Amino acid sequence: MSPSTSRGRDPATAAGATAPVLTIDGPSGSGKGTVSRMVAHALGWHYLDSGALYRAVGLAAAWEQIDLSDAEAVAACASRTVIRFDGDGEGEPKVWVNGKDATHQLRMETAGAAASAIAAHPPVRSALTDLQRSFRTDPGLVADGRDMGTVIFPEAPFKVFLTASAEERAHRRHKQLKEKGVSVNFDSLLHEISARDERDASRAVAPLKPASDALFLDSTGRSIGEVVQHVLALVPESMRRP
Ligand code: C5P
Repeated sequence: MSPSTSRGRDPATAAGATAPVLTIDGPSGSGKGTVSRMVAHALGWHYLDSGALYRAVGLAAAWEQIDLSDAEAVAACASRTVIRFDGDGEGEPKVWVNGKDATHQLRMETAGAAASAIAAHPPVRSALTDLQRSFRTDPGLVADGRDMGTVIFPEAPFKVFLTASAEERAHRRHKQLKEKGVSVNFDSLLHEISARDERDASRAVAPLKPASDALFLDSTGRSIGEVVQHVLALVPESMRRP
């Protein structure tokens, strides 16, 4: 992840707008966050966690007591929200939202649900488009989300759609949350994840779907290491970290 967001930089003229992009889209819990971070680290490329941007805007809107169904109000909030990522490329970066450390809060399923609700509004997606594209800087970018390969970086030379069965995804999320000291009921998590995927896949704008030129990878029963190797194999040696 770039050390901080860069509002104000013109994505069309930013140095590195021609940098290679590897997009990894997929449903929640498919492992794309972990895989993307590991792949970015191995390549020596930047990493964009676009879901964190939607989560951050959902959180900022909630802090401002904005009605999440009010598309214009949430879009205005998206435009003024300052999101900063802090990390060294290994492990999950810290996320600061309007100067507050929101790392823990953003990983909660409530933040995921709020993100999914606001992400269905076209003006909110537009408000975040340039910001996402501004992460494309040399030597390259690994971008993870739902519409990275279809809408934000349709010209990306490397695209993956990563999925896994709903049960396996809920198990992974359950384990992840448990490791963070958050106790959640497995059945309700499975239900929430399935509902979120259904909403993400059926929305009118930028729905969750594989780009026609994406490599489709099912990670059910595969280790993270195996998936990472599979994804890395897409990128020619000459473009990798020496
Ligand atoms: O990837 P993550 O689970 O953090 O994303 C949270 C929510 O943000 C998703 O359920 C989805 O609704 C939304 N999102 C999106 N487009 C993206 C990334 C995330 O709509 N590129």
